[in-house]
Amino acid sequence: MRFLTAGESHGPQLTVIVEGLPANMQVDIEKLNEEMYKRQGGYGRGRRMQIEKDSVEIVSGVRHGYTLGSPITIVIKNDDFTHWRNIMGAAPISEEAQSEMKRVITKPRPGHADLVGGLKYQHRDLRNVLERSSARETAARVAVGALCKQLLQQLDIDVYSRVISIGGVSDKAHYDIEDIIQNVDKNDVRVVDETIAQQMRDKIDEAKQEGDSIGGVVQVIVNHMPVGIGSYVHYDRKLDGRIAQSVVGINAFKGVSFGEGFTAGEKLGSEIQDPILYDETTGYYRASNHLGGFEGGMSNGMPLVINGVMKPIPTLYRPLASVDINTKEPFKATIERSDSCAVPAASIVCEHAVTFEVARALLEEFESNDITILKQQVDARREQNINF
Ligand SMILES: Cc1cc2nc3c(=O)[nH]c(=O)nc-3n(C[C@H](O)[C@H](O)[C@H](O)COP(=O)(O)O)c2cc1C
Repeated sequence: MRFLTAGESHGPQLTVIVEGLPANMQVDIEKLNEEMYKRQGGYGRGRRMQIEKDSVEIVSGVRHGYTLGSPITIVIKNDDFTHWRNIMGAAPISEEAQSEMKRVITKPRPGHADLVGGLKYQHRDLRNVLERSSARETAARVAVGALCKQLLQQLDIDVYSRVISIGGVSDKAHYDIEDIIQNVDKNDVRVVDETIAQQMRDKIDEAKQEGDSIGGVVQVIVNHMPVGIGSYVHYDRKLDGRIAQSVVGINAFKGVSFGEGFTAGEKLGSEIQDPILYDETTGYYRASNHLGGFEGGMSNGMPLVINGVMKPIPTLYRPLASVDINTKEPFKATIERSDSCAVPAASIVCEHAVTFEVARALLEEFESNDITILKQQVDARREQNINF
């Protein structure tokens, strides 16, 4: 399975083509849209999220609610495009109109793609860079992940996400999956504990008042994974390796870890490896899940636990020093409309990035032209974990 996204932040639409999902899989468009709305929510987001209401339109690959096996094209229209037609239209414009255009950007933001992208692609209007480097594109990735989530649900695999920390306020407690399901979606910072949620909101308010931004850590959990997805035989088939690439591929994500993550480096082997046990009805399992469900680049049957760290977003209302690329003068004052904290939304993006990689690995592992045949093989693998 593969996908390609296209579209600029203020262009008419985002488009994504996904190829490789099995045929005859049921697709619920309402559920896809629920995931899209979740990405737009969260405490600390800017005004743009109130202007847009992302919803998907499927224009190929699905007929009467079922996949055909052909490429699926999803379109996410930009409701705000009417205001941007002159600035973002594809048709050529006169030099006069160009010089009168108000939205030319010559002041690069530290931490964003603006300056390096301008240098690389020779854009003197940095809008040509930021329109694509903007996290608007993550809406398309959520759409793909949401499709894959429906595939995983039909294979009895569930994926959840939550926020672990924002601006240094942490909720690292271990919760049962049920607690996460019951609480996180209802909470605007996507944590289980409401006392911690309020501390996080206060942190976000504090940063906003200071004209600053804050980041955090998110966690994705994949439950009821069959054993042996991914492979130890070559580096680029390791499931944890692929997930790492996908997570760090999300805008502003600077690191990824699995299970107990970097603290593993401080522990003894006996404290971090998960002892192997056997149960007659469920098969092999682990006494603990310190390693987050991965051994040898493969799922070991325990829940996959993936953590991603997001840096504070680069656009600041009290900006850092930078240099105007026309005048070469220092400046300190460009304000693009921006979020002060996007960690709750980013947890949704991360959830869907992981979902795609898990689905991709499953489709590689088993014959996957048709959903029923795929399901039979996944069930057989689960049986094998008992009989082996
Ligand atoms: C959900 C989400 C929302 C974001 N919103 C903003 C934003 O409003 N302003 C901003 O400057 N960066 C925002 N970012 C981060 C930038 O897109 C990102 O920092 C930029 O593309 C540079 O890439 P890098 O940080 O990975 O180097 C957001 C990221 C995510 C995942």
